Amino acid sequence: MSAHGLPFSRRSTRDSRDPLLEKSIIVPRNLAVSGQAQELDMTRFDQGFQDTVALVTGGGSGIGAATARRLAHEGARVIIADLDEAGGKTVCEEIGAEFMSLDVSDPDAWEARIAEIEQRHGALHVVHLNAGITTYKSDSGGLVEAFDLASMPLANYRRIMGANVDGVILGARACQRLMQASGGGCLIATASVAGVVSFPPDPIYTATKHAVVGFVRAQAPLLEPTGVMFHAVLPGVVDTNILSENFADEARKLGIKVMDPSEIAEGVVTACQAKTSGDLWLCLPEQAPRRYEFAPVDDIGVPNLDE
Ligand SMILES: NC(=O)c1ccc[n+]([C@@H]2O[C@H](COP(=O)([O-])OP(=O)(O)OC[C@H]3O[C@@H](n4cnc5c(N)ncnc54)[C@H](O)[C@@H]3O)[C@@H](O)[C@H]2O)c1
Repeated sequence: MSAHGLPFSRRSTRDSRDPLLEKSIIVPRNLAVSGQAQELDMTRFDQGFQDTVALVTGGGSGIGAATARRLAHEGARVIIADLDEAGGKTVCEEIGAEFMSLDVSDPDAWEARIAEIEQRHGALHVVHLNAGITTYKSDSGGLVEAFDLASMPLANYRRIMGANVDGVILGARACQRLMQASGGGCLIATASVAGVVSFPPDPIYTATKHAVVGFVRAQAPLLEPTGVMFHAVLPGVVDTNILSENFADEARKLGIKVMDPSEIAEGVVTACQAKTSGDLWLCLPEQAPRRYEFAPVDDIGVPNLDE
């Protein structure tokens, strides 16, 4: 029981002073209770990603492709899952990864793909829940499109909620059992700085990324006892295909620094190597990835699990 009397702990505060971490050994609570206690070395990713199996959604392009390249370079067996078969297979050929066709908004497809991974690889240690889209993809090149909620096609709304929100929640749901059976691992969702600040050019995108941030923060303490850590990376503007044509150039003209996708891959690796769970890793230009902290809220009247 936590100090709040709830059957789970608040967001992890384990740090380098934690005696368990000093020994680099954590015994997942559920395994200990069931009498099948195993020692789980949570620093496994500190040595790189040798002997690990990693799944990257949206790995056919941009940030996902950069993460797939980085994890493969660090020794992981990488599986790229994407709607875009051509893009995904091109990256796979380049880095010796495996391609899986997946629409991350489809729960049945998720279950089927994870069953295939279990059959073929027998384990899953790292999952980057990264696939995502904007409400509109404009080719007009303007930095700020006028967003009009009333005229937004409902199909666009369903599509973005499916990719950006369902894709993360259903992905975490489908992966967690195999990750736990693999001795634990790390789930990383790609949110955005738009998950903690407003992005008026696309309020629906902003809503989806806030949803991802909330989900990661609330789900992480529930997963942690199973040995599965859960983080989000929050990139600023990254030069990828998600941006409208010329967006990156327009942004640069306004003095906004545009990042290379490899900088977000660095954030993913940093998150995997963290000793705490449920963290939001800001990935901003010319800075090392760092944790974002919300301001505490006092006097809620119910236990505040963030404190
Ligand atoms: N580029 C940026 O400035 C930026 C900033 C913050 C966050 N992000 C986030 O980063 C993530 C990756 O985006 P990116 O910038 O690399 O864009 P991208 O368009 O280059 O890559 C996105 C990939 O996701 C795939 N995808 C889209 N919908 C899918 C679905 N339903 N199922 C499976 N695959 C799907 C696409 O085919 C594509 O390969 C997204 O979640 C995005 O919101 C991007």
